[in-house]
Amino acid sequence: MPVNTHPLDQIDPLAPFRDQFYLPQAKIYFDGNSLGLLCHAAEQAVLDTLQQWKELAIEGWTLAQPDWFHLTEQIADQLCRILLAPANSITLTGSTTLHLHQVLATLYRRDDSRRGILIDSSAFPTDRYVVAGFLSSQGLDPAEHLLQVAVDNAGLLQEADILAGLTHGVQMAILPSVVFTTGQLLDLATVTAAAAQHDVRICWDCSHSVGVVPLNLSVLQPDAAIWCTYKYLNGGPGSVAGMYLHPRWHDLPPGLAGWFGSDKLRQFRMERELVPAAGAGRLQLGTPHLLSLAALRGSLQVIEAAGVDRLRQKSLRMTGYLRELFRQRLPDSGFSFATPEADDRRGGHLAIRHPRARNLSLVLRARGFVPDFREPDLLRIAPSPLYSRFADCDDFIEEICRIFSQSTDLSDLSQSLVT
Ligand SMILES: Cc1ncc(COP(=O)(O)O)c(C=O)c1O
Repeated sequence: MPVNTHPLDQIDPLAPFRDQFYLPQAKIYFDGNSLGLLCHAAEQAVLDTLQQWKELAIEGWTLAQPDWFHLTEQIADQLCRILLAPANSITLTGSTTLHLHQVLATLYRRDDSRRGILIDSSAFPTDRYVVAGFLSSQGLDPAEHLLQVAVDNAGLLQEADILAGLTHGVQMAILPSVVFTTGQLLDLATVTAAAAQHDVRICWDCSHSVGVVPLNLSVLQPDAAIWCTYKYLNGGPGSVAGMYLHPRWHDLPPGLAGWFGSDKLRQFRMERELVPAAGAGRLQLGTPHLLSLAALRGSLQVIEAAGVDRLRQKSLRMTGYLRELFRQRLPDSGFSFATPEADDRRGGHLAIRHPRARNLSLVLRARGFVPDFREPDLLRIAPSPLYSRFADCDDFIEEICRIFSQSTDLSDLSQSLVT
């Protein structure tokens, strides 16, 4: 393997973390915002859990180190440190989709004067489906009560439009911290404060920010937040998601109840009535997904060791560097940036539009480069600050230059790859 002499990699304080990851063979992986890679700590934590299962069987619930019965709480503590959230305000129980159902079922009020739930027109499909499904379950017509803030002509959300949307018959808002398509980072503080002012309960979908954009939940104080853990947190395919509930709501009964939401000291009394845990733990449902939690426990140790502030700095540097390379090396190739340029307006990935983005992504993948494609024309490029290198950015752009020098419309190159 050639020695990496890229000057930016040589002064990168996070460079040593790369050795802790399994890198797909002969691939430059820029898809960490879809599925982060496996690190040694996550692998070891899963192997340890398998060993405990082998040796301890049912006793693992109490005798494993750490014991399985409190593993969710232990990982929730790790997440509280990473997200600077108050103790007991985070829990994990299912997918992000399920967590959104739980947040709505817990925080939505019967209020005939304000039934609306606000989302954005670019919302991730599951968020839209959950809100529509939830409204229907309440006997409300989504066509009337699912309200949307539209994106502007550049495909971006304007905070002024969100603020205007918070007032008319809206009682809850479900919005993305970072938009999954464009990578736009919203002004979370302004929107959260405005929601509080209008008595609108706000839940941020932080799937594209946790682990790459610092979030200080103790300062931000939204009503709730949900996020995937298999993206920048590298928890593994389908890993158990995270969920935050503001302490002001810790007295509410869980909208969806389950026995793992019990006060831990009483759970095995098997009482007829649920006695909920004191904090966000009351939103847990059933028996935790132990193997999935184990991987997450390991991967979060790496995130804590690197520190989200340092991850953010490197992520911004890498995506800024890629942007500059696109500008300098591919000025007339039909690319336009979907992601805003300012650092405080963008998350962890760089989104680029191109009429041939589909073909380009097919050809890139066939040549060992893994970006992500979203219909109809979006290439999402997510270098991970834990395992990607500036040299990878150079190679990626070099390959795109090569592809365009071989073919301008790319259909000939990609045709043989389409199945
Ligand atoms: C913004 C956003 N929300 C929600 C989800 C879905 O989460 P899950 O399938 O884990 O429920 C995703 C998945 O990529 C996402 O990007």
